[in-house]
Amino acid sequence: MFNLAGKLFPIGGPVTEEDIVDREAFITTLEMRLAGGQSIVLVGPRRTGKTSLAHEVLRRLKKRGFYTATVDCFRLSNRRDLAQSLINSCLENRTGMRRTLDVLKSHAKALADTAKLAVKLEDLQVSVDLFHIDLDEATVLNYALDLPETIATRDGKNMVVMFDEFQDISQIAGDDIYKKMRSYFQNHRRVSYLFLGSKEGMMKTLFGNRREAFYRFATIFSIPPIPQEAWIEYISRKFAEQNLAVEEEAIRQILEITQGHPYNTMLLCSEIYYILLETAKSTITPGIIKIGFDRAMLSLAPIYEVIIEELGHRPVIRQVLRSIARGSKVYTGKVNPNEIKRAIDYLIAKGIIEKTGRGTYRFIEPMFGEYVRRELL
Ligand SMILES: Nc1ncnc2c1ncn2[C@@H]1O[C@H](COP(=O)(O)OP(=O)(O)OP(=O)(O)O)[C@@H](O)[C@H]1O
Ligand SMILES: [Mg+2]
Repeated sequence: MFNLAGKLFPIGGPVTEEDIVDREAFITTLEMRLAGGQSIVLVGPRRTGKTSLAHEVLRRLKKRGFYTATVDCFRLSNRRDLAQSLINSCLENRTGMRRTLDVLKSHAKALADTAKLAVKLEDLQVSVDLFHIDLDEATVLNYALDLPETIATRDGKNMVVMFDEFQDISQIAGDDIYKKMRSYFQNHRRVSYLFLGSKEGMMKTLFGNRREAFYRFATIFSIPPIPQEAWIEYISRKFAEQNLAVEEEAIRQILEITQGHPYNTMLLCSEIYYILLETAKSTITPGIIKIGFDRAMLSLAPIYEVIIEELGHRPVIRQVLRSIARGSKVYTGKVNPNEIKRAIDYLIAKGIIEKTGRGTYRFIEPMFGEYVRRELL
């Protein structure tokens, strides 16, 4: 029957195991290395599945008895926030609560409630010190940065800590945060670290430049593309679950449009699915793909509009975008090649385009390319 909950193809946030298309081998690689104590950097453009993949790796390690912790740097606003988030995530392994610190604080007066929790955490000095709001920030942060090793040692566990959107952390915690973190992390024997970042250039500098604090601290991996065959298998299975017969040819057409980009593909499939529901049809025709595509573009337009705005009104950048959208050469006689080169580097750093060969580039999100074609040409 139709899935009335409506989420046949997940879009937006991280997806769960059954919706992670392919990448099995890659997940295993990450899992093995992290389990072996190696720290890892995972880079990839926006909306390509980094967070989903990392969560899956952590889920598997947790199942094997590892302690795990996650900090989303994008959500933090200052050093204290960073410290609290890391502490909460570490403590969750013991308490099973997402926000142990808040619980301790809110129950601070009702001693009976807190007693059990406090005893559980006694050896970590949590109850005593950490919910004193006025405790100075540096002390809390130092405590937090060492907590993974402390708790892992106390409990005889190995641990994996993940930092999502790691490149954003200096914006909220200052440039010296990397040095500080490394000074702790490098002494941790029971903890390996997984750093995720969507700004590939920044991440590669942070971990690959000799002058940076995290130089050679971790091995860098790029998120691999999802092979066409894996998408075909997944999409047919999903539609089949809803008793919708979908021909391989139709799926190939979908993939041609999205180039297998994870988010674009999920979105287009999702729109097509809703059209089938609305029209009570059970086969995908080229017409339906076309309507699905238009709807997907409609929902993406506001996001893309912001991206274009952020790219600024520098004519060279727009010119480069147009050339790539047209499939023509980016270096033309009229504009200074250095300026074009700078525009290209900027677009690569922003995760908008990638190099495909000598002097050739493509849009990382094919639908963004289509947007450029519609709006800027
Ligand atoms: N392996 C995958 N298989 C299928 N779809 C995926 C996969 N990975 C990601 N997606 C799609 O991409 C969306 C974004 O996934 P996720 O949040 O994991 O990516 P991300 O790279 O962390 O993105 P962001 O840059 O927004 O943090 C998901 O909601 C899903 O629609
Ligand atoms: Mg993410």
